[in-house]
Amino acid sequence: MSHADLDQTAKSILTDNDQGGYTIPTKGLYPYQWNWDSVFVALGFATFDQDRAWREIEMLFEGQWRDGMVPHILFRKDDPSYFPGPSVWGTNGGPIPSSGHSQPPVAASVVLDLVRGDRTGQALERAAALFPKLMAWHRWYMTYRDPDGLGVIAVIHPWESGRDNLPDWDDALRAVEVRDIEPYERKDTSHVDPAMRPHKEDYDRYLSIVAACRKVGWDPAKVAETCPFFVADPGVTFIFLRANRDLLVLAQQLGMGKEADEIRGWIARMESGAKALWNPDIQAHVALDLRTGKQTDGISCASFLAPYAGLTDTATMAAQRAHFDRMASKVRYMMPSYDPEHGCYEALRYWRGPVWAMINYMIARGFAEAGDPARAERLRNDTAALIETSGFAEYFSPESGAGAGGGTFSWTAAIWLTWASPSHVEQAA
Ligand code: GLC
Repeated sequence: MSHADLDQTAKSILTDNDQGGYTIPTKGLYPYQWNWDSVFVALGFATFDQDRAWREIEMLFEGQWRDGMVPHILFRKDDPSYFPGPSVWGTNGGPIPSSGHSQPPVAASVVLDLVRGDRTGQALERAAALFPKLMAWHRWYMTYRDPDGLGVIAVIHPWESGRDNLPDWDDALRAVEVRDIEPYERKDTSHVDPAMRPHKEDYDRYLSIVAACRKVGWDPAKVAETCPFFVADPGVTFIFLRANRDLLVLAQQLGMGKEADEIRGWIARMESGAKALWNPDIQAHVALDLRTGKQTDGISCASFLAPYAGLTDTATMAAQRAHFDRMASKVRYMMPSYDPEHGCYEALRYWRGPVWAMINYMIARGFAEAGDPARAERLRNDTAALIETSGFAEYFSPESGAGAGGGTFSWTAAIWLTWASPSHVEQAA
């Protein structure tokens, strides 16, 4: 397929998955609005319909909870083909039925991108309307996902990280007692090959965490105190640190002085807190179980988001480059979601090895901003090659390039349009 044809296919995927203002990740496997999927999707729409791009984010924030949290899934209509649905979550925090936790907060960064690339003349007005909602969400993160003020952000469920099946969660998940779950029937394995999905023991624990949080009424302070899973995630931490920097720029543009000061405080706390994620033995940022104080020992794709978060000191950058090049010598396509030399690596099981387009986009952006255009370009070329060879899959094998998981995937299409497609080189990172 030519690049122009791929551009056209990508647009059709977005418009086919459009449910009237919000976009599902893919038909079948994921039939609702997902948080960070929608935000990346907005970048894709912005290449041909900026009004629609704003709408995607505005609709996501329609589901914001009273406490500020923006849920990871909005169940706008019932769909029996998905499990676990609204009755399992048992939430009551916002105006739309939803899951009970959040997902990586990329929204402020994308809102700033929409403002910068605006061709409608309405961007600042729309950003101003979203700004207090973004502030409330970020404040919620600082309060309830970093309750001790450590400057690192915890996830209360592997799904909150957006990197659901990452080996980094294995130990903390194994420590979760399986309890209070009803007999259940999974739906994911009827859409996708079970060999690419999590195991049953994991699923039992995913649902046990949900049950524990449901028991405390999803009260965020109680969840922070009692949730059986509470792990600081370099992915959410770095994405959030970046989002805070971008929110600060928005605050300044909108003349929100008091809020700008508050955000500066968050940034300072996180810049110093990020050191707690540095594992000196493997020279990388890793996850940290806040219940046990134990760091993980593997390098994941999020370790490479340090530059995206603006952490570009000499030692970090030297280690990033060395690990990048080492991993590039082991796999054909960068960036595997887990270190191919780690014992937990699996090329096709999701988040234990495969490549995701939107992760590549963020890593490349960080590297480009840190003055490393060559590695940024490598990521873009690999992303383009994967899509050219295997289409708009959910994720790809870093070895063979085979597409896996769901097909006709919205964020893969969006990342193609905004960054990987050669026709959009001018919008490069
Ligand atoms: C999977 C991914 C998650 C994503 C969702 C919808 O659960 O792990 O990050 O948001 O699918 O695409």
